[in-house]
Amino acid sequence: EKTTAIVLAAGQGKRMHSKIQKQFLEIQGHPVLYYSLKCFQESPLIHDIIIVTGEDMISYCKREIVERYQLTKVSAVIAGGKERYDSVYKGLLACEECKYVFIHDGARPFITEEILERGMFGVQETGACVVGMPSKDTVKVADEADFVSETPDRKRVWTVQTPQIFSYDLIKKAHESIRKKDMTAITDDAMVVEQESGVQVRLVEGSYQNIKITTPEDLDVAEVFLKKIEKM
Ligand code: CTP
Ligand code: MG
Repeated sequence: EKTTAIVLAAGQGKRMHSKIQKQFLEIQGHPVLYYSLKCFQESPLIHDIIIVTGEDMISYCKREIVERYQLTKVSAVIAGGKERYDSVYKGLLACEECKYVFIHDGARPFITEEILERGMFGVQETGACVVGMPSKDTVKVADEADFVSETPDRKRVWTVQTPQIFSYDLIKKAHESIRKKDMTAITDDAMVVEQESGVQVRLVEGSYQNIKITTPEDLDVAEVFLKKIEKM
């Protein structure tokens, strides 16, 4: 029974406003993308890794990431699509015979073996599991005119991260069926399962360190986290 990690690195990183795409920016001497790949490479739970990147970055990824760091579990480096869900779908099509998939943002360098373990445990129950954390901030839902329309109970609000872990057959079918419809509001993979199947999605703890590098200040935070990790 095989478990595949699909690592997404085909975004443009518009909110970062940098010339180099954020997943390839270096922090502490290594590209952002390298850190999560290293975690999957070293995890006994993961059998192979598919990297999804821009058409023009495939050879760079093969040479400067896969070969340079000897990531022997990487079985394919493929081109992504216009939207995140297009890239995920291409990754799913590139998987060979697997039972579970870990879908992960290459822009989240701080995953750990413990997070992967909790995800693997969580997915056994229904076939769908998302890592996240209880929200530290109170969340407000706004109406179209930016007036507050609702305040959900904070104890029940989670902000979600990746990896998101699924039974391969479940997520592939869910993506196939939603692709025939309007996908503009789709921001994560769990939503696809929520909307296209009756399957319940299990939430498990990721970590507050498991940030997505999105805007320039996230790079400063990432440097601090890495210095701390290196001292351990
Ligand atoms: N991603 C992808 N293919 C896309 C869009 C996004 O593989 N068409 C990946 C990104 O590379 C990133 C992850 O999905 O690792 C999360 O997306 P996000 O943080 O939104 O990254 P970008 O889309 O690159 O950034 P922005 O939205 O600011 O342009
Ligand atoms: Mg984006």
